[in-house]
Amino acid sequence: MNTNTETKPYPRHIAIILDGNGRFAKKHGLLRQQGHKAGADNVEAVGDLFIEKGIPYMTVYAFSTENWKRSEDEVSYLMALMKRYLTKNKVDALRKGIRIRVIGDRSRLSRDLQELIVSMEEDTKDMKNLNLTFAINYGGRDEIRRAVSKMISDGVKADQVDEALISSYLDTSDLPDPDLLIRTSGEERISNFLLWQIAYAEMYFTDKLWPEFDEAELDQALASFQKRDRRFGGRKEE
Ligand code: IPE
Ligand code: IPE
Ligand code: MG
Repeated sequence: MNTNTETKPYPRHIAIILDGNGRFAKKHGLLRQQGHKAGADNVEAVGDLFIEKGIPYMTVYAFSTENWKRSEDEVSYLMALMKRYLTKNKVDALRKGIRIRVIGDRSRLSRDLQELIVSMEEDTKDMKNLNLTFAINYGGRDEIRRAVSKMISDGVKADQVDEALISSYLDTSDLPDPDLLIRTSGEERISNFLLWQIAYAEMYFTDKLWPEFDEAELDQALASFQKRDRRFGGRKEE
């Protein structure tokens, strides 16, 4: 439940660029892979906080279209980690009421991973406590490219193209736009995440590394959001 007494509501949808797993590993003398494992565990922990606080949408950037440039070892570890996450977390997702979705171009993922994604999405589709979306092989530009290509192959006419139609062709067609975008680890850039959808999202950057992002950090991000004056291009009320 959202028990805050502030007048401004919590965000409904928070998108997170979970960055800093590698630096976390280095800081603690661990392998990079252990940093990624700590990061995956933290997605679970932060998901629980969203449920506790009544924030219904959480979208996390797990693997970008540019992350294929990393070493083969790191890429295959990340793929295995995502597979393990989706296998191991099904029972928990159903118990906690979490609906899992995946956005991004799955055609480049292994057959196994694609099948796990389909079955996770199908099995959790009636869950209502939290909409947890993973961006895997996701790039905002690539998503727009795929949307345009599909519109053309569907024979959409020039005068039919409006913003709602474009939104409906994106991977996020059944999600509200994010209200708040959080990036951990001190980097202040978007790195090709949700380019279309964050048009009016509030931005929150923290130096904390993703595996260190805890309830106190989330509360700070929420408090910061509640102080913002969202105008969406309109005039400030007197
Ligand atoms: C974020 O952690 C997770 C992914 C991009 C998969 P990084 O691996 O980018 O961590 P840093 O930026 O090297 O610390
Ligand atoms: C963004 O992090 C991608 C994910 C969190 C999955 P990166 O660490 O890949 O981004 P850059 O390279 O610092 O922009
Ligand atoms: Mg990084």
